[in-house]
Amino acid sequence: MRKLKHDVIIIGSGLAGFRAAIEAAKNPELSVAIVSKVQLMRSHSVCAEGGTAAVMRPDMGDSYELHAWDTVRGADFLCDQDVVWRFVQDIPKELLMLEHWGIPWSRQADGRMDQRPFGGHSFDRATFAADKTGFFEMQTLYDTLQKYDNITRYDECYVSSILTKNGQFCGVAVWSLTSGEFFVIQGKSVVIATGGACRMYGFTTYSLTATGDGMAMAYRAGLPLKDLEFVQFHPTGLIPSGILMTEACRGEGGYLRNSKGERFMEKYAPGKMELSPRDVVSRAEQTEIEAGRGIVGPEGILGINLDLTHLGADRINERLPLIREVTIKLNFIDPIKEPIPIKPVAHYFMGGVHTDIDGATPVEGIWCAGEAACVSLHGANRLGSNSTGECLVWGKITGEKAAKFAAKSKAYLETPSDAALKDEENKVFGRFSTNGKESSYAVRHELQKAMDSFVGVFRTEAELVNALKTIKELKQKVSQFKVTDQGRVYNTDLMSAIESDNLLDLSEVIVTGAIARKESRGAHSRRDYPTRDDVNWLKHSMAYYTPQGPRMDYIPVAINMWNPVERKY
Ligand code: FUM
Repeated sequence: MRKLKHDVIIIGSGLAGFRAAIEAAKNPELSVAIVSKVQLMRSHSVCAEGGTAAVMRPDMGDSYELHAWDTVRGADFLCDQDVVWRFVQDIPKELLMLEHWGIPWSRQADGRMDQRPFGGHSFDRATFAADKTGFFEMQTLYDTLQKYDNITRYDECYVSSILTKNGQFCGVAVWSLTSGEFFVIQGKSVVIATGGACRMYGFTTYSLTATGDGMAMAYRAGLPLKDLEFVQFHPTGLIPSGILMTEACRGEGGYLRNSKGERFMEKYAPGKMELSPRDVVSRAEQTEIEAGRGIVGPEGILGINLDLTHLGADRINERLPLIREVTIKLNFIDPIKEPIPIKPVAHYFMGGVHTDIDGATPVEGIWCAGEAACVSLHGANRLGSNSTGECLVWGKITGEKAAKFAAKSKAYLETPSDAALKDEENKVFGRFSTNGKESSYAVRHELQKAMDSFVGVFRTEAELVNALKTIKELKQKVSQFKVTDQGRVYNTDLMSAIESDNLLDLSEVIVTGAIARKESRGAHSRRDYPTRDDVNWLKHSMAYYTPQGPRMDYIPVAINMWNPVERKY
């Protein structure tokens, strides 16, 4: 088996991965690898739309304190406040860095970077590039990567496992989807930046590739997953596809209307209306729908109208061109003239691989950044436009830390024996046969049905228990997956089986954590425990892998600035 060597390995090629790679590559003595299961510019980060929050106008009244307070309150006090404080100070520098690297920000008439309102923020601080912010941030980082000849890219290469020796990172096992080769990359340090996983839901804003492989791999390798029960439902997913109708639609002045034409947010959050945090708006929409005031959308799906018609053609064309293009192409709706049918949609994992404030995991040599990680910035509910920023800030931090660690480490650790690596290869390619009786596609579909129905905006014990039962039954089928294609090149059949297995493990953690957490906080809204319980539940959930299912534990939340108070908008 071929063994390659790179000092720093970055798994994943989204915003966090690219930013980490650039930072690590600044040390010309180090060799850096980016390993990604997709082509480098095809990661889900390109789908980010509305903006990145940062304090860019202290002269006009914004401040770090205000951004931090908005984030802490939005998080329903479950975030670590030292982490939030670091974030608000670092993100403006990252946006200026992107400016220097050439990003085409949308600008004001005077040439300054423009900023728009976003939900839960008390200042217009979402910096943006029309409604394609993620794409332009990615393109800018991608262009910047080209300056470094010490970066090697491994496009369309799937990392099947993280290798450790005596509790320390020593490399990764890789399956090249394009050539079929199975090989090892020895490394001194690694940054897991593989993104989120909402593809266990059928109605989701995520790309098909967002299957949480990094989180699942880390979990099985013994790293704890933190706060995974907190899944964000974005208020405006296009019906029926689930494609993101950016919060910027409301930031630009769009309204949400029920079937009676009412701006119903007045009843739920009169202060912030449509620009309340996402958990609040999604619950309000769901309540309207359940009360019979939803609209009947495409395919008979009940939803809410997102009304932009009063904004005018010029504003929509200039600031929301992607939204208009998507709704015209997919729904034959021109938002200049007609409202857009939407409903709450699975959008983001607040939880992820447990890390400290530097993105370090409990295993030496392993860092994690972006949505795959839970550095505890978002707590129980992330504010819109704080996620791309997290990727940039902790991409930089982890890239720098991983590089320093690698520079200090004189020699590569030995990877497991050749026999053990051969076993690993056999596990990947020999695990599923043509004789299996179960379809991984059907299992994934059943999983999505259960998650959509029972683990949504509102939750109850009975529904969650039902979901867990389904997940456990589906997990029994994994060993029986039928994989018809027994080749190694572009074997999407095998890939689907592996991804479905990952999604099942992560779903089990979400639901187990949600059953255990007997309170309502942020995006975790229990009808049977409708209030927040700071006495018993102001703590992070930690899920540890066992073959029988996750073992739950809890750790304290860092509270050093603001004590919890009631959230009112
Ligand atoms: O609505 C949006 O544009 C999404 C932004 C985010 O999730 O931060």
